[in-house]
Amino acid sequence: METTEQKKRIFSGIQPSGIITLGNYLGAVKNWVNLQDEYDCLYCIVDMHALTVRQDPAKLRQNTMSLAALYIACGLDPVKNIIYIQSHVPAHAELSWILNTFTYMGELNRMTQFKEKALKHADNINAGLFTYPVLMAADILLYQADLVPVGEDQRQHIEITRDIAVRFNNIYGDVFKIPTGFIPRAGARIMSLQEPDKKMSKSSEDANSYISMLDDPKVIVNKVKRAVTDSDCVVKYDPENKPGISNLMNIYSCFTDKTYEEIEKEFEGKGYGDFKLAVGECAADNISAIQTEYNKIIKDKAYLEELFRSGAERADRIARKTLSKVQKKVGFVMKQ
Ligand code: TRP
Repeated sequence: METTEQKKRIFSGIQPSGIITLGNYLGAVKNWVNLQDEYDCLYCIVDMHALTVRQDPAKLRQNTMSLAALYIACGLDPVKNIIYIQSHVPAHAELSWILNTFTYMGELNRMTQFKEKALKHADNINAGLFTYPVLMAADILLYQADLVPVGEDQRQHIEITRDIAVRFNNIYGDVFKIPTGFIPRAGARIMSLQEPDKKMSKSSEDANSYISMLDDPKVIVNKVKRAVTDSDCVVKYDPENKPGISNLMNIYSCFTDKTYEEIEKEFEGKGYGDFKLAVGECAADNISAIQTEYNKIIKDKAYLEELFRSGAERADRIARKTLSKVQKKVGFVMKQ
């Protein structure tokens, strides 16, 4: 008989810095649903990370509630998985502080995400933006996670997490499990509809570049219609030369489970118009089914409150154990 103790642990999180996109769904949440029986999973709503870029307080609160409701509407079971809000578990901030003292400025200076965000938000290059990877390391290490499913853009953050953990363990013994990134193959990445060489992002300025999971189905069809393609008029998978069409094929394939070859056959001799309509309608149908669930959940404040309470309680229990160990190791007098 299998018990939870024997299962490997997975930790991942998404920032509530906007409404999640089709990219977050197909690249992350949809895959998490497939992991929930085989692994012991924690899915965090990382509101503390979101603060590294200035947020409107009311919107942050709303986006946090929406993300929780979307997690569940997308099929994440809140009993099988621990779903919780990062700021509800103080151990994240506490461990993060300690880990800051085991992280070098030089390491953080090399982080490409920091460099990109510093350029984008030149008026607010705050210390939190700089130490963002340390908070992420604390998230992961607190739960002794084995696997961390993230996108390619987070690879460097997983590396620094491992470096910090190894450094700490070398001084104090085996305190942290060394986590492994669980990075999907390149094809699983959904790109911007307007600039298909960039990742689809909920923080993009151009709303036509992404599909929000709460977009009206008609809007979804229109955004796909407007997606940037090429002048070649052949539906063929070729991410190098035809990034726009390849991205739409990827989206279609994720929803239909059809292979690229099957999709090429299906649209042989047909124009981009037919293809885009098929992709748009398919995405709209699937997202609209998720929205039906979402609309029920988001109205039920009592349900969400109870979810947050029990999620935080379950997460806190695990996190406290690691934090106490760390506090003892570094020489803090333990509070009785
Ligand atoms: N930095 C991640 C992102 O922007 C979000 C995140 C924060 C995360 N903490 C995490 C992901 C821990 C995985 C594990 O995508």
